Amino acid sequence: MVDIIGHRGAAGTYPENTMISFKACEDLGADGIELDVQLSKDGEIVVIHDETINRTTNGKGFVKDYTLTELKKFDASYRFKRQFKNCTIPTLKEVFDWAKGNHFSMNVELKNDKFEYHGLEERVINLIRSYEYEKRVILSSFNHKSMLKFHLMAPDIETAVLYNRRNKEPWKLAEEFQAEGIHPNYRIITDEIIAKTLAKNIAVRPYTINEPDVMKELIQANCTAIITDYPEIAFQIRSQLMSK
Ligand code: G3P
Ligand code: CA
Repeated sequence: MVDIIGHRGAAGTYPENTMISFKACEDLGADGIELDVQLSKDGEIVVIHDETINRTTNGKGFVKDYTLTELKKFDASYRFKRQFKNCTIPTLKEVFDWAKGNHFSMNVELKNDKFEYHGLEERVINLIRSYEYEKRVILSSFNHKSMLKFHLMAPDIETAVLYNRRNKEPWKLAEEFQAEGIHPNYRIITDEIIAKTLAKNIAVRPYTINEPDVMKELIQANCTAIITDYPEIAFQIRSQLMSK
């Protein structure tokens, strides 16, 4: 079965990368969530997509220039302010605590392709180990060297390479950086590439699929998972296809 992963939670209908967005995925038929992490000034792993807080909170500035206590004061309800009022930027630890109550997979994307965030890999590994989530978490990043570093430090935790440039042989990217999966932008993937990659025992989880027709195509192509802002639509489509 093709898994459905809620992108930044259920970012189409909830404020991205917030607890309310992750919790919503439980009722929307998702099998897992995708989220983005950066490091605060005091080294806490915080869940936020951009390097700055400008777009998704009522504050301004770089994530790395604020302590966790300072970051927690900003409202991350973003374009859903009227519906959800005050939402805070979560820590990865808060997400892991919530996940104790379900069986969701968690795709943690390290946002370390612009700032290196020294020690981010080590901190994420330590946290995963402290929760014994080695088999529930998949790491991904556009920073492929970081994925290799992560793999060498924690070979028992699955990694995947993210990419958004056309590549006819993306399994080679996974092999080069010793990753177990590829996470391509869905616009640059074909049925043939999906089949060839899967045949090499490498997982394929394209992002971010929000069009029902594309969801249908990729579910029929038997991808490992699809990453979507609308898990509820993907769930409906998958159920229809499975009942045929
Ligand atoms: O992990 C898939 C996808 O989230 C990568 O792109 O920019 O949405 O983090 P972005
Ligand atoms: Ca992401």
